[in-house]
Amino acid sequence: MNEDLQQLQNTALAEISQTSDRIQLENLRVKFLGKAGAISRLSENMRNLPKEDRPLFGKRLNDVRAAVTSALDSRMETLQARGDAQALSGVDETLPGFPYRLGALHPLTLLQDRAIRVMRRLGFALAEGPDIDTEWNCFDALNTPPNHPARNESDTFYLPDGRLLRTHTSTVQIRTMLAAKPPIRVISPGGAYRRDEIDATHLSQFNQLEGLYVDRNVSVADLKGTLEYFVQELLGRDVRTRLRPHFFPFVEPGYEIDIQLPGVNGGKWMELLGCGLVHPAVFEQINLKRNDNAYDPEVWSGFAFGMGLDRLAMSLFGLPDIRLLVESDQRFLSQFAE
Ligand code: FA5
Repeated sequence: MNEDLQQLQNTALAEISQTSDRIQLENLRVKFLGKAGAISRLSENMRNLPKEDRPLFGKRLNDVRAAVTSALDSRMETLQARGDAQALSGVDETLPGFPYRLGALHPLTLLQDRAIRVMRRLGFALAEGPDIDTEWNCFDALNTPPNHPARNESDTFYLPDGRLLRTHTSTVQIRTMLAAKPPIRVISPGGAYRRDEIDATHLSQFNQLEGLYVDRNVSVADLKGTLEYFVQELLGRDVRTRLRPHFFPFVEPGYEIDIQLPGVNGGKWMELLGCGLVHPAVFEQINLKRNDNAYDPEVWSGFAFGMGLDRLAMSLFGLPDIRLLVESDQRFLSQFAE
């Protein structure tokens, strides 16, 4: 049997050294080392040897396996190096290369980052919430009654388990208040989803930036001052703002802020965001859920706002169609690369 082993090793090494093709080499690996290969077969035969001969035979078998493995590996390295050299021959390394086109941030990301930086300077921290949320976080906690049109199947994407794709980032107001006691100062950018017909000003998936401030004696003056500062830092000193009463169930009083920028949108007023003072009914829902009185409406007050980032980008960059923001057209996007 020992001669068999020696014979096998000689054959294997000879065949390996003569192979000049990587696939053939792999076939040899199977032939000699595979489950049904020559070495495995010999190791099965070991059963037929007298007991005292088995350890020595076993050791020899391992030596052969190691020698064949190492010959296969080193031959593979040689063949690979040869292949690489062949592939590179004829390549003139002194020729200039092709310049890589560097990627850049999407205009919406640039705008969002700018907005976040401004609010951070005012001490607002980033808060997060998931895109899939509960109906309670999206509507009930925000004082939106079951018969409100926004809760309709035709307006909102519901999951079979009753959860939904959030229709606004205001869900993060609720999540933040459930998780921490006042005072609160957070902003939260993220996706929002509605069953809106897609057209030049509507997407079914768009982006909002939410803000929530809860403290003692928060007034409309705080809301107005903060948002005017925010808008001016974001869009420049020339921007004009106006506060227009508007109904949202989760704020009282509620407003929309319009902006006017010289040279943009033909100088017309544009709607920028919804805002208002947090409705006491929202605080009461939070207290019930928290099972404490941490948001006592007699002690705490607050303001909240929610801004549509895609629409802001449209107005700011003079885009004729909101869909430009999601079509990934390089000719459009490269104009915003910083
Ligand atoms: C809200 O979503 C409120 N959560 C905002 C708010 C927050 C009010 C906090 C008060 C306090 P509204 O439904 O108006 O409000 O949407 C806000 C912005 O989202 C709109 O001004 C618009 O810019 C953007 N928006 C709404 N629907 C779409 C859509 N289909 N495509 C693109 N942008 C949209």
